Amino acid sequence: MPTHDAVEVILAKRDKHELSDSQIDWVIDAYTRGEVADEQMSALAMAILLNGMNRTEIARWTAAMIASGERMDFSTLSRPTADKHSTGGVGDKITLPLAPLVAACGVAVPQLSGRGLGHTGGTLDKLESIPGWRAALSNEEMFSILEDVGAVICAAGDGLAPADKKLYALRDVTGTVEAIPLIASSIMSKKIAEGTGALVLDVKVGSGAFMKDLTTARELAETMVALGTDAGVHTVALLTDMATPLGLTAGNAIEVGESVEVLAGGGPADVVELTLALAGEMLAGAGRGDVDPAEKLADGSAMDAWKAMIRAQGGDPDAELPVARESHVVNAPATGTLTRLDAMAVGLAAWRLGAGRARKEDPVQAGAGVVWHARPGDEVTEGQALFTLLTDEPERFDRALASLEGGYDIGDGASFTPTDLVLGRIG
Ligand code: URA
Repeated sequence: MPTHDAVEVILAKRDKHELSDSQIDWVIDAYTRGEVADEQMSALAMAILLNGMNRTEIARWTAAMIASGERMDFSTLSRPTADKHSTGGVGDKITLPLAPLVAACGVAVPQLSGRGLGHTGGTLDKLESIPGWRAALSNEEMFSILEDVGAVICAAGDGLAPADKKLYALRDVTGTVEAIPLIASSIMSKKIAEGTGALVLDVKVGSGAFMKDLTTARELAETMVALGTDAGVHTVALLTDMATPLGLTAGNAIEVGESVEVLAGGGPADVVELTLALAGEMLAGAGRGDVDPAEKLADGSAMDAWKAMIRAQGGDPDAELPVARESHVVNAPATGTLTRLDAMAVGLAAWRLGAGRARKEDPVQAGAGVVWHARPGDEVTEGQALFTLLTDEPERFDRALASLEGGYDIGDGASFTPTDLVLGRIG
């Protein structure tokens, strides 16, 4: 590989030039090996944030990050594979019912998930509230669970896109997370290296999401769909609302409880709607568009797949879930229609109660979180319970309450217009 100089690459992007394939290959490889220093990579990341990258550069950047580690291959499995990635939201527990549901429809789901950082929850944190369940699996275990059960949700091993692991941690502390080329290449390098045949992206839009408006969310979705398609992965994206949190819970164990309700045929309507919409896309992408996921939810086969998936990873699907030691109820201050419930306010409250972490190495509380007892459009009566805050540490209540202030409106039902959950589709 030709050698470059880190300063030369930084200056090129600072001065708005297109980076060559060889510059990109070198800088990613040299950064992974520790030859390019963190301060040099952070200058380059900032230059990319400010000046962007074109499609050719983004594709090469993604390929270089994939090449920094191993590539998994599920092509010898007896069924096709499909995966889903969400850009992250509040109350977003969809992976939990979705993976076993799609498995019950005959498509294998190799879900490599992450832990939460900031106000959005992490799928692994939620599942770890199930007694005995473990996130770390070897590639062989993952393969055999996929063959036997059809769905696995586990932590990505250190061998997958190591360049991204290092770069994502650096972006987190240098104000360079929000660059579309860097987000798209970060997500897609992991998903392409994971070896799924089909991929559905759930790109969240609104206050509780990375992307606050539809235009930037669409740009991110289009960039990721193009990267996946060029890499031979059948990729589509749904743009979905994250101005309002999903379901009625944000936390860890409480979100597992809500997911189990969905698998049992109940659960909040929006969680069911999004689970079925994403399942339909995953099945179509994997060539099984003829199967109706709603039937598999109704006939109990998705629940059977859930229990098998949890058991295969050491968990007890019938065990009691952890419950927070303390609770605090917020009552509705007026009678009327709940016209707005802000995802960011709820996410921040759950985080402050201990459901999320401030630093990667912090522990999370399994029982902490927020339950809301009404959704936008619902009628509420003054004095009724509107939120229940849950934590093991009551000193957390004040800051959580502060984040809910101004986070909801109760008004006249006539002024309320419901928003669609699915705002667009790309692919
Ligand atoms: N999720 C990722 O994996 N990477 C990003 O850059 C942003 C969200």
